[in-house]
Formats: sequence, structure tokens, C-alpha cells
Amino acid sequence: MNILVTAGPTREPLDPVRFISNRSSGRMGYAVAAAARSRGHEVTLVTGPTSVRPPAGVRVVRVTTAREMLSAVLAHARKCDALVMAAAVSDWRPERFSRTKLKKTSASPVLRLVRTPDILARVSKMPGRRIVVGFAAETGNPAPEARRKLAEKKLDLIAANDVSRRDAGFDVPTNRLILIPAGGRIQRLPLMSKRRAAAIIVKWIESRMGA
Ligand code: CTP
Repeated sequence: MNILVTAGPTREPLDPVRFISNRSSGRMGYAVAAAARSRGHEVTLVTGPTSVRPPAGVRVVRVTTAREMLSAVLAHARKCDALVMAAAVSDWRPERFSRTKLKKTSASPVLRLVRTPDILARVSKMPGRRIVVGFAAETGNPAPEARRKLAEKKLDLIAANDVSRRDAGFDVPTNRLILIPAGGRIQRLPLMSKRRAAAIIVKWIESRMGA
């Protein structure tokens, strides 16, 4: 199978030295890419800036902003059998970008943010059939919000977690995922390494494809 994975945060620049972003380390997406590769799939990893080393044998496409991630995903999605959107895409970007560094001697800037494109929403409008897996990062009980995103983004599977916990979510090697397949039963995975959780997601995709 041809599997497209996104990982890491995006960065939305304010000026040449500043940006807004989020706490994603990229570990979950990189683990999915590694699991898919080790199970013999062709893998393209579209990644925002991270310090994690990409797995061997994976085609890596590096991007910075949400708009760049959208272009890279649209360019590769057409020929993929499955897309796993593990990236923590910034939902907003500064409306204005200053080509020169904003100086503190001028008046304090007022930040106006505008929405970035929703990549999954755009992919779901593309022709062709592919399995689409999304993630949901929530604070508090993740299941209700995850169900809403599963339906709204027309996903086949959503993997949700409570990122306010210390042992799950951002920048830790473990996760406690809730998997909700479209039209299927919710599965609460115990605390485990992101590597093991990634293998479970890849095997789910394989079973859905009849691989
Ligand atoms: N996502 C996306 N494009 C965006 C934002 C998110 O494709 N601009 C994807 C993420 O990669 C993830 C899923 O949508 O797979 C859910 O992301 P999440 O940040 O949990 O949800 P949002 O859609 O941003 O909704 P909210 O801000 O209400 O939590």
C-alpha cells in the first residue's frame, strides 16, 4: 500500500524571527510512518519542523506552514491508499507577515489571527477512494469531540487522546488512545508506547483494505 502520513506542528510566521506554533513533537506521526514502513508499505511523510529523526526508507517532505502542508498533502494524496493526519496543524496564522523584524521600540503589535485551511476537509472533497485516519487532541474527555470530528471530516477512523494528561499527547513517548471507526465500536487502548499504538493503527488500515 501507498501510505501518506503527516506529522509534527506547523509554524505560522509573524516576522522573519517569530512564529506561532504548538507543542507537537512529531513522535506519533513518525511512529506511524515507521510502523507502516516496517510492515512493507511505501511511505511518504509530510512533516512540520521537529527534532525527531525520520525513519529509514521513508520519503520525507519537509514543510513549515499549514498552507505548505496542504499543498504537499494534495500533491501526494491522489496516489495514496491511506492518509494518516497525525500533524498538529495550526488552526490560525497571523493575518500579516512583516518582511522585516518587528522592533520593540515601535508600538506593541496587536495580533490578528486568521484561519488556516482545514487539510482533512480539503482531502475529503478529492475524487478517488482512500482510507483517511485523523487524530483529535482534546483536553478532557476526548470521545464526544472525536465523534464530531469523525463525522464532520468524513474520516474512516479517528484516534483521540486527552493531551492534558502527563503520560499521553505532546512530547512524551507514550499515548493512551481512543480509536473510533466510522460506524464501528469505540476501542479504548491502554497506556502504551507510541510505537505500539502506531502499529495498531497501521494494522487497522490493513484490515480495512483487506491487505
Ligand atoms: N487538521 C487538519 N487541518 C487543520 C487542523 C486540523 O487537517 N487546519 C486535522 C489534524 O491533523 C487532525 C484532525 O484534523 O487529524 C483534528 O485536529 P484537531 O486539532 O484535534 O481538531 P480541529 O479540526 O483543529 O478542531 P478544534 O480546534 O475544534 O479542536
